[in-house]
Amino acid sequence: RDFTIAIDGPAASGKSSTARAVAQELGFGYIDSGSIYRCATLLALRQNITDMGEGSASLADLISHAKVDIKVRPSTSHQTPSLGRLAVPEVQVLLDGEDVSREIRTPEVNRLVAKIASDSGIRQAVLHIQRKLAADAESRSTTSRSADANDMPGGVVMDGRDIGTTIFPGAELKIYLDASAMARAIRRWDEMNQMKDVTAQKPAHDPKASVAPAAVYPSVEEIARELETRDYADINRENSPLRIAPDAVVIDNTNLTFAQQVYTITDLARE
Ligand code: C5P
Repeated sequence: RDFTIAIDGPAASGKSSTARAVAQELGFGYIDSGSIYRCATLLALRQNITDMGEGSASLADLISHAKVDIKVRPSTSHQTPSLGRLAVPEVQVLLDGEDVSREIRTPEVNRLVAKIASDSGIRQAVLHIQRKLAADAESRSTTSRSADANDMPGGVVMDGRDIGTTIFPGAELKIYLDASAMARAIRRWDEMNQMKDVTAQKPAHDPKASVAPAAVYPSVEEIARELETRDYADINRENSPLRIAPDAVVIDNTNLTFAQQVYTITDLARE
């Protein structure tokens, strides 16, 4: 049997980049389950389905019949001294052949995705897509590996909220990745500031731009409070997808470097 690694955890815990680096290290396939919920949300926006009471069944039908593809491009471009030889591959998300990698990360999708993902009919439809993508990725990783690459079988890494509990309760390795709200807030704040630097570098051709009010960026403390509120709501919501599997290894990465957490997981996988 192929090897499945489930990586679950709260928002901004670093699941996605960790999971991608682990997959590249082990030569496994990678599936970002959040992007499937994001594709369903994009379909909902395009079809104007925002009422999950009435629209749930038709949206579940739409996403079930859509073709979601997650393509991983092995990358060395993210290499920095802090990553050492680790690379974080880029991921391309295709919805019926259309590259929607950027469109599924817009503020509109961010605002709606949690509501779409809390619908049980949608979760059921997405469960089938996740299992099918994993089966495809596993068979690809098995056939594309050279026999002496290492002694691991082929496999897949999937990150999300409920992978170790609902999607793959039999996964060979389950990781629950967590970090303090403050550590997660600092990472989010860094991301926002990188975005701010990019926008600040743009020359202002529009004379009115100079008098436009500057965008208001929240402080680290505000982000931390918001993450804590969201975690609390997520965990206490009825049917919350975010639960720690009893057999999961909990890794708190508040004080770990990226390389430390990635190698902790690859070592566990090789045990
Ligand atoms: O991981 P990402 O932020 O892209 O996930 C987007 C949203 O999809 C999450 O906020 C959550 O509401 C939902 N989600 C989920 N179960 C998963 C993965 C994502 O409910 N396994």
